[in-house]
Amino acid sequence: MLRIIDIDVAALALPTLRVQAAALELPRRALDHRVPERRMRGACDLTAFGAFDDGRLVGFAYGVRADEPYAWREPVLDRLAAAGCQEWTEDAFYLCELHVRPDFQGRGLGTRLLTTLCSRASERRVVLTTPRQPTPARRLYHRYGYRDLVTTDPGGGEGEPYAIMGAELPLLPETFARAA
Ligand SMILES: CC(C)(COP(=O)(O)OP(=O)(O)OC[C@H]1O[C@@H](n2cnc3c(N)ncnc32)[C@H](O)[C@@H]1OP(=O)(O)O)[C@@H](O)C(=O)NCCC(=O)NCCS
Repeated sequence: MLRIIDIDVAALALPTLRVQAAALELPRRALDHRVPERRMRGACDLTAFGAFDDGRLVGFAYGVRADEPYAWREPVLDRLAAAGCQEWTEDAFYLCELHVRPDFQGRGLGTRLLTTLCSRASERRVVLTTPRQPTPARRLYHRYGYRDLVTTDPGGGEGEPYAIMGAELPLLPETFARAA
């Protein structure tokens, strides 16, 4: 039976990295070296949920208040401020990771993790960074009212093109958001 419950990211550093590697179609142990870094990030005041199938972690999502000293915070907030999106750096929740193992995708788990995590945030807005190309993640975010705040271009000297996306909280599915 699939259950979504609060998790401690530091305590589940290795299982979350294994799920992430699977979701990103990397070899099983490809991210294992990041265990110490993930444990350290877990020391921040993260809000985190895991999806469990009979006790085994198959998906997870976590985020943090934008004023927490979380790695990646500075560049993202700097880009937003430089793009004139200052309001998105204030009273904001930063969605750090969302991953579901491929064999559990397409059953609504990603949606449940995203909506559960964002419903726990008390901030006015949520921001995240994601590869810019069309992906299931981008579709999911668009469905819940996220829009592009900043995008980078291929060859722009910043590696893989990415988008910083943002949505007002509470999240509303696109159909409701349009009617509101
Ligand atoms: C993004 C991600 C977390 C989505 O997880 P997921 O569990 O597959 O998400 P959902 O099942 O809620 O939605 C995925 C699709 O399944 C569909 N779906 C959901 N429940 C369904 C069901 N019961 N029956 C049929 N289809 C269903 C959704 O409509 C959606 O369709 P779409 O992609 O055509 O828009 C997952 O694809 C992933 O881990 N990707 C790799 C890592 C990644 O990109 N993470 C985000 C980085 S920012």
